[in-house]
Amino acid sequence: MKFSVLSAALALTPAVMADWKISKNREIEYSSVEGFFLQDNTTTDATTFDYADWNFGLLNRTYTSDPKRKTIKPKGRKPYKAPWPKGYTTQWERFEKYVEHLNKKAPKDTQYKVLVMGRHGEGFHNAAETYYGTPAWNCYWSEQTGNATVTWQDALLTEAGLEEAYKANAYFEERFEQYGMPYFESYYTSPLARCVITARETFANLDLPKSHRFLPVVKESFRESISIHTCDHRSNKTYISTLFSKLRFEKGFAETDELWTGTKGETTEHQLARSKDILDDVFTSDDATWISVTSHSGEISKLLTTLNHRTFKLSTGQIIPVLVKAKQVSIEPTSTYASWSTEATCNAPPVTSISGQGCVCSTSTTLASTSATATAA
Ligand SMILES: *[C@@H]1O[C@H](CO)[C@@H](O)[C@H](O)[C@H]1NC(C)=O
Ligand SMILES: *[C@@H]1O[C@H](CO)[C@@H](O)[C@H](O)[C@H]1NC(C)=O
Ligand SMILES: *[C@@H]1O[C@H](CO)[C@@H](O)[C@H](O)[C@H]1NC(C)=O
Ligand SMILES: *[C@@H]1O[C@H](CO)[C@@H](O)[C@H](O)[C@H]1NC(C)=O
Repeated sequence: MKFSVLSAALALTPAVMADWKISKNREIEYSSVEGFFLQDNTTTDATTFDYADWNFGLLNRTYTSDPKRKTIKPKGRKPYKAPWPKGYTTQWERFEKYVEHLNKKAPKDTQYKVLVMGRHGEGFHNAAETYYGTPAWNCYWSEQTGNATVTWQDALLTEAGLEEAYKANAYFEERFEQYGMPYFESYYTSPLARCVITARETFANLDLPKSHRFLPVVKESFRESISIHTCDHRSNKTYISTLFSKLRFEKGFAETDELWTGTKGETTEHQLARSKDILDDVFTSDDATWISVTSHSGEISKLLTTLNHRTFKLSTGQIIPVLVKAKQVSIEPTSTYASWSTEATCNAPPVTSISGQGCVCSTSTTLASTSATATAA
C-alpha cells in the first residue's frame, strides 16, 4: 500500500526519475558502509566532534575506483606520483566517483546513497530547556507554549541557532567551491519551523548550478519524536509555506498537524517504524545519490539506528554524512507494538526539579513522569 501511494506522488514531482521497484515479498534493509567517515569510528567522540574541523569527517584514503597514477622519475631527482587527473583532484571528487562506481557495480536489488543529515540550529525550546533545567522543562514548561517573554511552540531559532546555520552556509559554500564536494541533488526537511529555517539559512543563498537548485521538500516523517511538548507541535501548512517561497510539500501533507495531541507521545517503536518508512519513501521515489536532510536530534538518532550506524548524537547545528547501502531482502515478520502512550505532567511549575531524578509537582492532580517524555531536541 505504501508503495502505491509513492508512485502516485512520483507523477507530481518532475525532479525524480524512475523509481526503484521492490520485488514481491521483499523489503529494504539499510546499512551504513563503514570506513569512509570519522563519525562511524568508535574512537570519534560525538560530544566534541565538529564537522567543520574535519571536512565533514570524510577520511583521507584511497578507493578502489581511483585512477592509477604513473610514477614520474625525473633525472637526478626523487621520483614522484603524477598529479591526479581532472575530476579526481580532491578527496570529495574521488569519493563521488567511488559511490558512482559502487552503484554501477551493484546488482539491481542494491543501491547506494550519501545522506547528509543536519540538525537544526538552537531553537527557543532548547534555550528554555537549558534555562529551566531538563526535569522542570519536561514535567511542566515544555507543555506550555512559552513563557512571558519567549514562545517555544514550533520554536524559531535563537540568535545562536541562526549563527549555527550561517556557519554551515559558509562551510558548504567552501566545500562546494574549493573542495569539490558534490552538490546535493535533493533536499528534504522536517516540517517544524526550526528545520525549514535552518535549511533556508544554510542553502538558499548559495550559488548553485541550475541543475542542482535548492528546492527542499517537506516530509512529515522527518519531524522530531512526537511527545506532548509544544515544540513538537508543527504549524499549519499555510504558515510553513511562508517560511520559504520555494518550499515544496510531499503529496498528502496535511494543512494542520494530525499527529500531535498534547496528551500522548509516540513510542520508540512507532518512531523507528516511521523512520524506516520515510527512508523507504526516499529510496524508492528519488534516484538522487547526494541527499541533504534537515531534521532533529531524536529523529536523526532513529534514522541512524535504522541505517545501522553507531549512536552519534548531534549538537544543535551539527551535520553527519552517511554512506548508505540499501538492499532488498526477504520480508521478516514484524511484531505488533503500541504506537502511542499517555504522558503525564505537572499542571503548575514544579516544587523541586532535580537533575537526573525528576521533579515534584506542586499539586497532587497530576503526577510528574519525566521518564515518559523525551527531552527537547
Ligand atoms: C578507528 O580509528 C582508529 C584511530 O585513528 C584507527 O586505528 C582504527 O583503525 C579505526 N577503525 C576503523 C574500523 O576504521
Ligand atoms: C584530511 O586531510 C586534510 C588536509 O590535510 C585535513 O584538513 C582533513 O582534516 C583530513 N581529514 C580527516 C578526516 O582526517
Ligand atoms: C523565559 O525563558 C527564557 C529562556 O528561554 C528566559 O531567558 C526568560 O527569562 C524567561 N522569561 C521569564 C519571564 O521567566
Ligand atoms: C495557520 O497558522 C497561522 C499561524 O499560527 C494562523 O494565524 C492561521 O490562522 C492558520 N491558518 C489556518 C488556515 O488554520
